[in-house]
Amino acid sequence: MPRELTIADPATASLDECTDALCAEGFDPRDEGSLIHAATWLRRLGNDRAFLGDLLIEELACRHRDNMPGSAYGPQVVMLVPPQGEFFIRANIWPSQDEHMVRASGGAAFVYDLPHDHNFDFLTLGYFGPGYWSDYYEVDYEQIVGWRGEPAPSLRFVERSRLAEGRILHYRAHRDVHAQHPADSLSVSLNVMHTGAGQGWMDQYRFDLDQRRVGAILSPGPTEALLKVAVGLGGDEALDLAHRFARHHPSDRLRLTAWDALAARTSVPADKDALWRMAEASGSRLVEAEARARRAELTP
Ligand SMILES: [Fe+2]
Repeated sequence: MPRELTIADPATASLDECTDALCAEGFDPRDEGSLIHAATWLRRLGNDRAFLGDLLIEELACRHRDNMPGSAYGPQVVMLVPPQGEFFIRANIWPSQDEHMVRASGGAAFVYDLPHDHNFDFLTLGYFGPGYWSDYYEVDYEQIVGWRGEPAPSLRFVERSRLAEGRILHYRAHRDVHAQHPADSLSVSLNVMHTGAGQGWMDQYRFDLDQRRVGAILSPGPTEALLKVAVGLGGDEALDLAHRFARHHPSDRLRLTAWDALAARTSVPADKDALWRMAEASGSRLVEAEARARRAELTP
């Protein structure tokens, strides 16, 4: 269960003031003082009941200028402050089941009913509305290898609650798991997200709650796509790199991607089987389990 932070501070801060304060002090969620500092400024920002509405109206009015900070997120997320070294700030919009966009696009488009952990820490504040519902779980990340279908016996249910207005939670990386459900009516949360250089190499998982198993890795990075394209084009350097990554890259996820890229170069089942046999013995528990599954899929 994310840690509930009780921050009683009636002061109000603008987005710029909040950003300046976090830039000055940084945001290190492993440091209690830094965590409370960031949560206090998030509280102050949340006390400004007008800034987000004003910003959205301004954005709608100036849309043609396309001058808002860009992000890889969908329309559910408004990037308020782009990455500033250790953090960025965003607003999330949580529609209810009755909203047209949920009826039209389905809950999956809003990450509803997707049990997942996070490979980053973040603070969240219920800013507006009754808040999304979450079934909260915790898991022991150290026990997980990450292959699809892997049992996750440490996964345990904690509680169901919602991010009510004014509530501040600290989601802990690689520990808190949740499955979100639509808010009872349109809601908004504000996040201070922690960013770090190595974060992208730590995996984020989807879980199968009924079976208490790992569903899949949710956090592919751009390297995976680039590697697959390069190997697909078939250059010697690319093949050499893929072979080295497949056996020695520190990320098991990227090792598996390298093997997948190499396997995709042949459509002959016997050749694929031979490659996956090599992968099975390549020294990664993740690759070993996935290679076994790939070989089983080859068997008619
Ligand atoms: Fe989440």
